[in-house]
Amino acid sequence: MLLRLPGVYRPQHDTQLLADVLAAEHLGPHTRLLDLCAGTGALSVHAAAAGAGRVTAVDVSRRAAISVRLNALLGGHRIRVIHGDLLEAVRTERFDVVVSNPPYVPAPVDTVPDRGPARAWDAGKNGRALLDRICCEAPEVLVPGGVLLLAQSVLSGVEKTLTMLEEQNMLVDVAASAEIPFGPVLDARRRMLERRGLIEAGQTTEEIVVIRAVK
Ligand SMILES: C[S@@+](CC[C@H](N)C(=O)[O-])C[C@H]1O[C@@H](n2cnc3c(N)ncnc32)[C@H](O)[C@@H]1O
Repeated sequence: MLLRLPGVYRPQHDTQLLADVLAAEHLGPHTRLLDLCAGTGALSVHAAAAGAGRVTAVDVSRRAAISVRLNALLGGHRIRVIHGDLLEAVRTERFDVVVSNPPYVPAPVDTVPDRGPARAWDAGKNGRALLDRICCEAPEVLVPGGVLLLAQSVLSGVEKTLTMLEEQNMLVDVAASAEIPFGPVLDARRRMLERRGLIEAGQTTEEIVVIRAVK
């Protein structure tokens, strides 16, 4: 049971898929794990409960950061919480695991929201505003042999993610995938997505994946 302040992303299928993949990683008292785009901190709590000793959660939303703090307290977990933009505050640190379920939904415009619930899902017209930054920056904070677990929709270009990470000498793999029904946001954007050729006419589901990349 997680607390969630109003406007903070409710853990969903993508959170669960990522948690399932995370469960297969070896996490121990010395594991330094970074939860980028933490929301309620669901993945941070999973990691801490699975034994990761040094968990850091980052979110740009103040309400999300507060939610993570509350959930850490409730669960009795030690989680360092940073209110900030992606890797900005942790650039000089090194992690064994980076886990991220960032905003990845293709939006009507390229500008990403700087407030409100849509900040949890809107990611520019191609859905890659955050994914591209993570692909460029996350490998830098991983130790050799470190693992990045990244969730996204096929609507925001899985091949692009794999290529970008390979260009950073990461060994990449799609670790899990699931076909899920459109939620209200994608449902309201069906026409736009059809026009852009991202979905078929009448399509009502999307495939989400978890990419596993090893440095
Ligand atoms: C899809 S939600 C995922 C939340 C949580 N990890 C989960 O799986 O339930 C994405 C989160 O990214 C956060 N976010 C958006 N832009 C960000 C940025 N530039 N830096 C850090 N967090 C960001 C949002 O506030 C939101 O909490």
